[in-house]
Amino acid sequence: MKILVVGGGGREHAIIKKLRENPLAETIYALPGNGGIARDAVCVPIKATDLDGICAFAADKGIDYAVVAPDDPLVLGCVDRLNAIGIPCFGPEAKAAIIEGSKVFSKELMKKYGIPTARYEVFDSAEKALEYAKDCPIPIVVKADGLALGKGVIIAQTREEALSAIREIMQDKKFGKSGDRIVMEEFLEGPEVSVLSFTDGKRVVPMVSSMDHKRALDGDKGLNTGGMGTVAPNPYYTEEVAERCMREIFIPTMNAMNAEGRTFKGCLYFGLMICKDGPKVIEYNCRFGDPETQVVLPLLESDLLDIMTAVTEERLSEADVRFSRGHACCVVMASEGYPVKYEKGFEIHIPEEDVDKVYVAGARLEDGKLLSDGGRVLGCTETAASLREAVDKAYALAGRVSFGNAFYRRDIGKKALTAYGEE
Ligand code: AMP
Ligand code: GLY
Repeated sequence: MKILVVGGGGREHAIIKKLRENPLAETIYALPGNGGIARDAVCVPIKATDLDGICAFAADKGIDYAVVAPDDPLVLGCVDRLNAIGIPCFGPEAKAAIIEGSKVFSKELMKKYGIPTARYEVFDSAEKALEYAKDCPIPIVVKADGLALGKGVIIAQTREEALSAIREIMQDKKFGKSGDRIVMEEFLEGPEVSVLSFTDGKRVVPMVSSMDHKRALDGDKGLNTGGMGTVAPNPYYTEEVAERCMREIFIPTMNAMNAEGRTFKGCLYFGLMICKDGPKVIEYNCRFGDPETQVVLPLLESDLLDIMTAVTEERLSEADVRFSRGHACCVVMASEGYPVKYEKGFEIHIPEEDVDKVYVAGARLEDGKLLSDGGRVLGCTETAASLREAVDKAYALAGRVSFGNAFYRRDIGKKALTAYGEE
């Protein structure tokens, strides 16, 4: 089987390593992939948003199956385009990817179908939003409607911050057309849980839960990033919470998308807040999370390619989806200064016996050397029977991997260990 994976980050590296476990996955192409992924797949320099280029390549190579991993090609309709030339895909069509592509859409969907989420208002003019912000409850959360490279959410702690967030998004167009409309919503409190799920529109099968660490610095300080590390499972996702989420959120969301004629097939990501009065949806993503995937897939005991094709063929009920009872921890190594300003081009050293546990996010190959080439450079993942052990092993691994300006948080997993009563 010739498989194509669209994307080129740590998440895609984790997907590719898992797909390779199936002997049917004879050749895997990554578009564009990266210098680290090149060990596990044939990387071709076609951008993930270049739908014409992707389709031409897929037709030329006679691709049998495609996995579209990042949000932007999904929202742009990459799956629709590949399907139109007869290539089956893992990932939602554009009309379903809108669940991430438009925050206004997802909030209205939740309201219409009674799915628990923060109370909100939608604004399509800056004047009205500014007027509302004059006496809305504070803190308030301001969200650009469309995709904004994960930066379109501002938690305004003061009225002044709310006003300037509205001005930046709607008047200065900081995120372009993504800010034509905004959602202003109630600030929720509670631990956050990420739950990725497989769904074919008939069934929704949650994967093991995980916890992201979004802030750049220890103690959840510093700027928001794409994610500095993850652990799985998430201690706050108890059996009781899981059961409620299934009943109140996961199944209702799948049914709502079906009722809207937007059947979602692929990986539906639920960003949840466990509030005092129950779990609520903070956000939906139409794809695997990054770096959640780097802890979730290493715990998957069954075959990823089999599950993915079962989703595509709408027979997920027949698939074997089994996770280990162990724990995983991923420590992201970034370039010092990320997410603002950082240098690239430092040589990365990974001991040969460790390469299988390192997911490369931002690196390029030059004269046979692997050089850092992004803000988040790689993720070190370890699994173990206990979280304590997984965390210790992941940090030991990070200690064996090096590059010039490497920077990483020292407290990934600490919050989870505290929740287990271990810190
Ligand atoms: P996002 O960029 O969509 O991943 O959101 C960034 C972060 O903002 C989330 O992970 C939450 O920590 C936080 N957030 C989003 N919405 C709310 C809310 N209504 N109340 C509190 N925190 C929120
Ligand atoms: N780690 C959060 C995301 O993938 O959006």
